[in-house]
Formats: sequence, C-alpha cells, structure tokens
Amino acid sequence: MKILVTGSAGFIGFHLCLELLSKNHIVFGLDNLNKYYSRNYKLYRTNLLNKHKNFKFIKQDLRNINELKRKLNKIDVKAVYHLASQPGIMYSFKNPNQYLSNNILATKNLIQIYKSTNIEKFYFSSSSSVYGNKRKFPIKENYKLNPLNYYAETKKKCENLLIKGFKGNKIDLKIFRPFTVYGPFGRPDMLFLSYFNSIKRNSVFNLYNYGNYVRDFTYVKDVANILTLFLNVPKSKDKVFNICSSKPIRIKKFIHLINENYKRKVKLNYLPTRKGEMLRTYGSNYKLKKKIKFNKFTSIKQGIKNTLKWYLKFKNKNNLNI
Ligand SMILES: NC(=O)c1ccc[n+]([C@@H]2O[C@H](COP(=O)([O-])OP(=O)(O)OC[C@H]3O[C@@H](n4cnc5c(N)ncnc54)[C@H](O)[C@@H]3O)[C@@H](O)[C@H]2O)c1
Repeated sequence: MKILVTGSAGFIGFHLCLELLSKNHIVFGLDNLNKYYSRNYKLYRTNLLNKHKNFKFIKQDLRNINELKRKLNKIDVKAVYHLASQPGIMYSFKNPNQYLSNNILATKNLIQIYKSTNIEKFYFSSSSSVYGNKRKFPIKENYKLNPLNYYAETKKKCENLLIKGFKGNKIDLKIFRPFTVYGPFGRPDMLFLSYFNSIKRNSVFNLYNYGNYVRDFTYVKDVANILTLFLNVPKSKDKVFNICSSKPIRIKKFIHLINENYKRKVKLNYLPTRKGEMLRTYGSNYKLKKKIKFNKFTSIKQGIKNTLKWYLKFKNKNNLNI
C-alpha cells in the first residue's frame, strides 16, 4: 500500500516508517526538518530511511497549503499517518504560536486536502496529555478531557477538527493517544536523552515533583508495530485508542533502572511540581488490545536495556550534537 507519514524525521515517525517498510509498503515521509531540536539528528534519521528503495522523502512544511497540495496531489496514497507536530509541554508556555500553526493549521490543511480524495485511512497522533489530571485509573478513552497546557489544548482541538472535518466521509479516521514513548533514536527533550546529556556534561539533572511523577512508559517499537497493525483493521465507528503499556512507574524508579544498567550517575536536583505537567499517566489499553492482536508489550527493563545499547553504540559512532 502507498502510505504518507508526516513527521517522518521525528522520533516516532522514523520508527513507524521503518516498520511500514519492513512490511513492504511504499512510504512517503514528509517533514520540514524544523529546528525544535537538532536538524542534523533529523537528517540522520532521514538518511537511514533513504536507504530503503520503497522510501521517498518529501521536504515540506504542512503550513504552506499551496505547495503542500501540489506535492501531495502527485502521490496517490491510500493511508495517511499524521504525526508531525510541535511537541513539548514546557515549551508550549514559552511559544504558543508554534503550537497554533504546526498543530492546528497543519491539521486543518491536511483535512482540506484529503476530505475530497479517495484515501481510505487517516490516522492522527494525539496525546495522552489531553486527559489532564485524573482520580480514577487506568484512564479510559471516554474519560473527560482536561488539558493542562497549550500543547494538550491544541491536540484536543485537532481531534475535534478531524472528527468534524471527516464526518460523513468514507475515510476511516483513527485518533491515537500515545503515553510517554521512549526508545532508541528518542527525542533530546525527553527523559532518556536529557538524562544522558546531563551525565555527558556532568551537570545536575532536575527531577520535578521530587521524582514522584508517574508515567506509563511505552516502548517506541511497540507503538510503531501497533500503528502498522491498524492497517488490517476494517473500518469501524470506534475512533479513539490509547496506546500504552499500562504499566506505570515513578520517574525516580525509571532513573534507578537506568542506573542499574549504566554505571555512571549524575547528581539529582529534587524540585517541586511544574505547572502544566500531569501527576500520573496510566492508561487502559483494553480497547486497543480488543481491536488488534497485540499483547506482548516490551517490559520496561528490556526497553531500557535496548535504549541504552543503542545510545552507547550511537554516541560512539556519531558526533551529532543532540
Ligand atoms: N514522544 C512521545 O512520547 C509522544 C507522546 C504522545 C504523543 N506524541 C505525538 O506523536 C507525534 C510524534 O512525536 P515525536 O516524539 O516523534 O516528535 P518529533 O518532534 O520527534 O517529531 C515530529 C516531527 O514533525 C516535524 N514537523 C513539525 N511541524 C511540522 C510542519 N509544520 N511541517 C512538517 N513537519 C513538521 C518535525 O520536524 C519533527 O521531525 C507528535 O504528534 C506528538 O505530539 C508523542
């Protein structure tokens, strides 16, 4: 099948493209290679994808509707995975405009382009952050949404735009809400790489909520696998699915597990909670597992081992400033 993946140079998009290519799909990866974090790192991922004969990279900004339309009209895809976005929670307080344009405007443009075409599937990556703080766990898809930051706010808005925009259309729309994704080739602004960067620079590592935030860490290859499996699911009314391992742990425990595998440590700086961050993310994957045959989530211990192995190899081989 011919498939478009937006955000292909990003962390999850890169892994999703690899998984789709391994299943012999023809993949068009689109990304504007923005500088939210190292462009060289995004290029590095893109170069790895370019080694596959069934991969074609399109450098394009989703906000530029005319150019976008022209380029996308040339490729006759059957499915779209829309993963490109401006991520990050704390940055959303500093620069909300990036979220308005890269999340909302970009999604509006894709709806406009695809609502009158023959694509069969449109898959959107929302986020677990749309739920906000909850009292009852695990969090189910039908729980009330209560975004605590501008990033989550724009994800919620995109979900609604997509539901409205593709209403009455043949397209099979799915909205995925991934929970803290980690693994090889991760984002430098997320826990794993930022922790290792602190070790490398011998600087202190800030641990907010005194290390007591709870996160439902989900291994990136599981996420890519799950997203790919949806291609075989017949169209249905169900639209929203959590993607999570449903095995939450405290951040300080996660760090402890990293330290068990990596002998170098860093000094931890314990700090209170920060505005906009959820205290506990712990999702239900019941609905997901009922829909697709996927039961074997990677354990946190194995996931950390794999990520560390990748990091040590990657760090020694590349001089990327990430
Ligand atoms: N990583 C996680 O833990 C996590 C959790 C929940 C949801 N998500 C969502 O999953 C998706 C992928 O996340 P990620 O961690 O891979 O992020 P990422 O930042 O690594 O990847 C996003 C990619 O989108 C590209 N992009 C941004 N704006 C663009 C635009 N206007 N035009 C074209 N390309 C653009 C960026 O250059 C980047 O390569 C995002 O939508 C994110 O919000 C991620």
